[in-house]
Amino acid sequence: KRNVQYISTGVKALDELLGGGIETRAITELAGEFGSGKTNFCHQLSVMVQLPEDKGGLKGKALFIDTENTFRPERIVQIAKYRGLDPKEALKNIFYARAYNSDHQMLIIDEAKKIIPKENIRLIVIDSLVAHFRSEYPGRENLAERQQKLNHHIAQLLKLADIYNAAVVVTNQVIAQPDMFFGNPLKPAGGNVIAHGATYRIWLRKGKENIRVARILDSPMHPESEATFKITEEGLID
Ligand code: GTP
Ligand code: MG
Repeated sequence: KRNVQYISTGVKALDELLGGGIETRAITELAGEFGSGKTNFCHQLSVMVQLPEDKGGLKGKALFIDTENTFRPERIVQIAKYRGLDPKEALKNIFYARAYNSDHQMLIIDEAKKIIPKENIRLIVIDSLVAHFRSEYPGRENLAERQQKLNHHIAQLLKLADIYNAAVVVTNQVIAQPDMFFGNPLKPAGGNVIAHGATYRIWLRKGKENIRVARILDSPMHPESEATFKITEEGLID
């Protein structure tokens, strides 16, 4: 197998489901409805990547690309404290970029290659990957152009992941559809581009209270199964 590494999610059940954690040299898509925990998951990984290898991290930094203005430094502080990191250091090790539109989002990725090796960035997060594309290229008449741009964007991401042995994690909204999608009346937005581009797709759904359920779809390696976790003050836990 290619030389890949794993970032622990900080949740044992999830790591087991994923065969070790979030893989480098791959794109992992977090898909789920509003409140399912995608953004929390991204915050968690931005901290986990910083841990030493014996604690499940890569002793690396994170690039967090935020399209919806939902990055919360105070959330990082909570998670970092729980994971035994200095919160100030943990925040400094997360390079934050707000993407204001889809072109800007793609530009940030073009520019990222300058800082990734210099800063030892091992995790690239885009929360959300498709939101700008969907709002700027609405409807069927714009579908071809939107998919072509997304295709290019995803190819760029995969290239970065591969060259720098980094993990790429993107979030994706889910949209209602008339037919059932894996027994679910929702399906991830972004269509086939994502289905082809993402190496792993983790489907998140809400359980009771702070319980969340993760399921892996479209994985070349993992048989489909589920893991549950909780969202708490400390972040994601078993
Ligand atoms: P969208 O971006 O709206 O699609 O949602 P998302 O999938 O990104 O969900 P997000 O990660 O923002 O999860 C929000 C949910 O996490 C909230 O509804 C809370 O239930 C839970 N949550 C967030 N912060 C805390 C916290 O500090 N403690 C607890 N117990 N729950 C939290
Ligand atoms: Mg979110």
